[in-house]
Amino acid sequence: MSAVDELHTALERYKVSGASATSSAPGPPPKAPSFSRWTPSRIREAIATIPAASVYPELVARAADILEGWYHRFPLTIWNRFVRFADSGTGRRQQLPKVLKEFNEAAPVLARLLEWVEESRQAGQPPMAILDLGSGFGFLAMFASELLPREQVERIYLIDKAWPNRSVPGSVGDGISTSHIYEHGSWPIPLLTLQINMKNSREMRGVGHHIIRDPQPTIICGIHLCGTLSLRAIQLFNEGLLSGCGVTGFIMAPCCLPRRQHRERKFFYEVGGHRFGAEELHDKAANPGMNAFEVYQKHLMQCIQAEEKTSETMQSLDDAVHQRDGPIDKNVFFFARAPFNHIGAAAGKGIDFGKPVVVEGANLDYGPSAGLPAPTVAAAA
Ligand SMILES: C[S@@+](CC[C@H](N)C(=O)[O-])C[C@H]1O[C@@H](n2cnc3c(N)ncnc32)[C@H](O)[C@@H]1O
Repeated sequence: MSAVDELHTALERYKVSGASATSSAPGPPPKAPSFSRWTPSRIREAIATIPAASVYPELVARAADILEGWYHRFPLTIWNRFVRFADSGTGRRQQLPKVLKEFNEAAPVLARLLEWVEESRQAGQPPMAILDLGSGFGFLAMFASELLPREQVERIYLIDKAWPNRSVPGSVGDGISTSHIYEHGSWPIPLLTLQINMKNSREMRGVGHHIIRDPQPTIICGIHLCGTLSLRAIQLFNEGLLSGCGVTGFIMAPCCLPRRQHRERKFFYEVGGHRFGAEELHDKAANPGMNAFEVYQKHLMQCIQAEEKTSETMQSLDDAVHQRDGPIDKNVFFFARAPFNHIGAAAGKGIDFGKPVVVEGANLDYGPSAGLPAPTVAAAA
């Protein structure tokens, strides 16, 4: 079954049974203290040591309470997945639970979401939708569901190619189980996982036409997006914004450059009317004092079509390592905002939300050099 079918089925199921569709089981009774050594009091001690604790003390205090709730709500098998040590970097060296490392990285996003959702409430706007592109396990959405005012946010979509396809019985996707999302009680703001390959043009069109066009304010997030996924996220935001779909916010953090082959194959990217080449990212003469990732970030900024946009560098657990190894550049967040403007039934009509972001290069089977239209799957990007 295709991913568009997944989108239809998941959304239809949601419409029929409302929030309960995302919280199928009532949840187990509170369990007795478990064997996890990460008890709420140890979590409180550890969370006080992360960089976010000094920048967002109130948020961190609320997160500690949320984690205590999760400790009692989830069975040990799931709790242990939250608190196992981070896979790499400083989180692993410091033996910090993964959930705290992820919270530290999500904190700037959560702080901004709280601010924007409150502004939306004060402006009397309808409840909004939030998309988390490349959501991974879903910590950002899980914290957002607990922290944001539920009357102002209708649902949060967790979009990742690794989720199981819920329309296909037995689907395991690319390895992220949904049991923590659906099987242990309801979330204050419903969460909905969607298996979407963001490099698949048809699937991105599905996201545009079945989610972005909905008559409500929409905020698009994408944290630690790899390679060209950042361009895909910007394109979705731009198209939704410019075609009157009510998109009001964008928060994105790229995590790495496009693959090395892009440079070898002389790929050109184009998003929001801004065009640049993979080769020029490495052109030191044209970009004195900047590394390739910083040049990429400069171009990403130029692709964003909102008038109000900023980029901010946030403190990471890995800062000490980055400082030794070179400039700190992996924790740059892009923020863009726009007034709420939904133009009704014409919103997003005829817009190609899935236009390929690689527009030219060697051995592309579409684009001007091949003389062929855009493909359904832009495999190279
Ligand atoms: C570096 S992780 C970031 C996860 C999460 N946003 C975070 O900050 O912890 C990148 C995520 O992007 C997802 N991903 C990679 N390629 C993708 C694609 N083509 N479409 C959708 N998701 C993709 C991966 O499955 C992974 O969960």
